[in-house]
Amino acid sequence: MTEENKNIDSHDDEKIHDGSDSDGIKELNNPAPNWIIFVFLLTYGFSLFYAIHYFGYPNNGNDQTTEYKNKMVAVDQEKKQLQAASNGGVVMTKEEIIAEGAKLFMQKGCIACHGLKGEGNQIGPNLTDNFWINGCSEESVIKMVTEGKPEKGMTPFKTMMTPDQIKTVSLYVLQGLVGSNPENAKAPQGVECKP
Ligand code: HEC
Repeated sequence: MTEENKNIDSHDDEKIHDGSDSDGIKELNNPAPNWIIFVFLLTYGFSLFYAIHYFGYPNNGNDQTTEYKNKMVAVDQEKKQLQAASNGGVVMTKEEIIAEGAKLFMQKGCIACHGLKGEGNQIGPNLTDNFWINGCSEESVIKMVTEGKPEKGMTPFKTMMTPDQIKTVSLYVLQGLVGSNPENAKAPQGVECKP
């Protein structure tokens, strides 16, 4: 008989589990301490909450599929907002862009150097033909209006116009002026824009 077995036999008779004597084998009535039971109940409760909450039962919208769908809807919305924001917070139609751009072309003094109809004059080049000194992409026109080219006489407008206004007037040049064939158009300068 080992030390341990002796202890079971000799100590704490009242701790022997009732009716646990089976062929002389006895079981000590040794319940787990309360704190362990408490922790166990806590994890049990948590697992119930977790399963209900995250597996989406009963259809609370937290399951993976629904969560994914909701995220994609949010992404779509964000995309639309970004697109709208890049157009000055409103989604403008082509007509609105051209009307607004034409106004800016007058108000901001582009007409002084490019003519009332963008036909060009002694100072600035014709903006109605498809020949460009500095590139015909939307980016290069926006850059031209933003940064200007002071050494050649083109004013930088970044401190005089908002980025939205610059974009609008640039789109007006590309979509409203190019191809408009005004009278007294200045001879083409630069290279032809090939799509
Ligand atoms: C003070 C005169 C002046 C004003 C004001 C001016 N421009 Fe210009 N702009 C020029 C000159 C000069 C050039 C040619 C630069 C060069 O030789 O590269 C030019 C070039 C450009 C070009 C590039 C053309 C090309 O062939 O690459 C665009 C686009 C343009 N201007 C748009 C505008 C717009 C839009 C405004 C008004 C917001 C404006 N400009 C106001 C003088 C002016």
